[in-house]
Amino acid sequence: MKVKIAACLAIVLALLNLPVLASGPKISQVAALSIDRRVDELLSQMTIEEKVGQLNQMFYFTQFMKPEMVEPGIRDGKIGSLLFVTDPALINRFQKVAVEKSRLKIPLLFGFDVIHGFHTIFPVPLALASSWEPGVVEQVQEVAAREARAVGIRWTFAPMVDIARDPRWGRIVEGAGEDPYLGSRMAAAHVRGFQGQDPSSAGRLLACMKHFAGYGAASGGRDYDSAFISDAELYNVYLPPFKAAVDAGVGSAMSAYMDLNDVPATGNAFLLRDVLRKQWGFKGFVVSDADAVGSLVTHGFAEDKSDAAFRAFTAGVDMEMSLPASPISTAYSTSLASLIQEGRVTKELLDESVRRVLEAKFKLGLFENPYVDESQVTTIHNNPEHRRLARVAAQRSMVLLRNEGNVLPLVKGDPKVSSIAVIGPLADSKRDMRGSWSLADDVKRAVTVLEGIRTRLGASIKVEYAQGVDIARLSRSIFDIFNAPRPAAWSETQKREEFEKALSLARSSDAVIMVLGEHEEMSGEAASKSTLDLPGRQLELLKAVSSLGKPVVLVLINGRPLDISWAASHVPAILEAWHPGTEGGNAIADVLYGDAAPGGKLPLTWPRNAGQIPIYYAHNLTQEPETEKKFTSRYWDIPTSPLYPFGYGLSYSTFNFSNLRVSKPEVKLGESVEVLVDVENTGRRSSDEVAQLYIHQRFGSASRPVRELKGFERITLALGEKRTVRFTLGKQELTYWSSASKSWVQDPAVFDLWAGADSTAPLTTTFRVVR
Ligand code: BGC
Repeated sequence: MKVKIAACLAIVLALLNLPVLASGPKISQVAALSIDRRVDELLSQMTIEEKVGQLNQMFYFTQFMKPEMVEPGIRDGKIGSLLFVTDPALINRFQKVAVEKSRLKIPLLFGFDVIHGFHTIFPVPLALASSWEPGVVEQVQEVAAREARAVGIRWTFAPMVDIARDPRWGRIVEGAGEDPYLGSRMAAAHVRGFQGQDPSSAGRLLACMKHFAGYGAASGGRDYDSAFISDAELYNVYLPPFKAAVDAGVGSAMSAYMDLNDVPATGNAFLLRDVLRKQWGFKGFVVSDADAVGSLVTHGFAEDKSDAAFRAFTAGVDMEMSLPASPISTAYSTSLASLIQEGRVTKELLDESVRRVLEAKFKLGLFENPYVDESQVTTIHNNPEHRRLARVAAQRSMVLLRNEGNVLPLVKGDPKVSSIAVIGPLADSKRDMRGSWSLADDVKRAVTVLEGIRTRLGASIKVEYAQGVDIARLSRSIFDIFNAPRPAAWSETQKREEFEKALSLARSSDAVIMVLGEHEEMSGEAASKSTLDLPGRQLELLKAVSSLGKPVVLVLINGRPLDISWAASHVPAILEAWHPGTEGGNAIADVLYGDAAPGGKLPLTWPRNAGQIPIYYAHNLTQEPETEKKFTSRYWDIPTSPLYPFGYGLSYSTFNFSNLRVSKPEVKLGESVEVLVDVENTGRRSSDEVAQLYIHQRFGSASRPVRELKGFERITLALGEKRTVRFTLGKQELTYWSSASKSWVQDPAVFDLWAGADSTAPLTTTFRVVR
């Protein structure tokens, strides 16, 4: 009895959000206790159909659906979650049906792809990773969460933490690039940004790491294609960012579309049960990617829909995300109940999954606060701080690839420059500033490069624009329904005229800023391509403009590395701006004119051409020493080295790394070693540098990569300032999955260390790990 009273008191206190007595359990434990009970109670009242309903997530596309198409399903408890509703009034309308008309009044969970912003668009995730600044990523996602939450969205399908080593793969733009260490730091930052301490607190969202796992290794970079990944590569490269997200408390996970080593990820018990639940202790819930359960049949894995439901569910997919083509006729909703009746799926397994989903709804506070306050939306969305952050994040994401003769920063008031030509198909395109998954913003708010430069220069200088060439995808994009159609392709005559117009504008101007790259729908989902060529006649235009002998600056707007080999040796200044978001044009002008200094670094290896793919810095050694010879014995037509190495990026200043040292020359297995390096700003102005630490294990139970990133810090140094950057290498950094022993090992070995400004840093030292 005493126990019961204490428990009741705890529940009441938890509900009132009051602290319990000092000697009692902590408030979070009490809340968890009460959630457990509330879930138990609800589960005991639910029919099998209602339970299955909680595992059913439906798309709702305002473009071609009517509320009446889903309301009966909500009322009958057949839908647990909706995605893609972004209108707060509609969210409240659907929620009202759930909490007032359905038998058990279980609220809906509204999800959306809040990938890099909602109303305010921030740089694409690949760009955010280029900042090498987890703090900025966290701030950005906090604001993105606040804006999405303002309309009633409570769950984002982000971050995408897939490692990608093939830039033909369109979705490389959605992740943090090629490296597991950088990817892990970014993954944790995204999760902290979305969820904060607690995803139920004001302005926060439940995060969802995706796509579990191996999606980035799609064969040939073709989206959705099979991935074949060895155990060592899986554990050492592809899984660490997911593990980092789990350690950061991510609340949900999405199973990937593709086959992993012949077993589709959505029916893959090794991934979903052994790794995720048993090895990592993940407590959140798993949702399938869109229609990934049903498509187990298309994969040639499941016999029919019912078999697909059986395989996905027993493998560990709790919730099915289903396409609108089949309202309430998803694999789970048509088959799970009968699978249970037939005894093929146990009621306990069903309860486990439903429990996870209900738990999330309770934890998010949806039962207490199911509705959103529509009156707040405009104020939250139009907070000027959000735009300010978008501008800063874009500045910090840009990577200066080339700056021969210090062409940049440009100088306002330069007596030699009274007119500037801004040329290229991306120079005045609001839509392309944003990047993939910008689905709920107002495109008109985006600032183009032309606008940014005009604002920056005012009336003092003539700034004129010519598009020069037109570019287009050859096939439609899956995102076309969210945007107004692109203008029709130019006729041959128009093409000739526009090209000439751009050339004559360049000819009559004192300097040229070329803005080239790709449309936003040229990368992202279902946006892979076979080459890295600049689409259309952009290279031709660049060559023609460059031949005029004017100072030329190339700004790239894109979501993947492109083949810019010609530009890399002919155009003096190249700034990689990626898809920089709503404030992109202003941020680019800030960097070009030196109001902000570029300090971003490449989160991937930039190939010379598509033939070098896959190419990544953390490759293994071969039988040949790493000498010049290796540059001719691999390919005889081009160098083996990339165009730009991982971690590369220039600055408007120069930095010197020196005095790389370790706290102890020898440590025991399991012990940590401190690594210190001095960084000095030896250049012309205060700027940022990213100090990077790489290791190489010289010998051991398996071959280890020639270099692996194990620490980094972005620092700002004033002119002449020198600072010591400190890293710690502990057991975690020195342990790896050995394909020889099929286990995690830390070998006694000699380690090389390098510290510097990119993955080719020459400054080196060693230390030894002994038994
Ligand atoms: C994508 C996911 C996304 C989902 C919902 C799928 O096609 O692969 O990344 O979260 O759609 O939009």
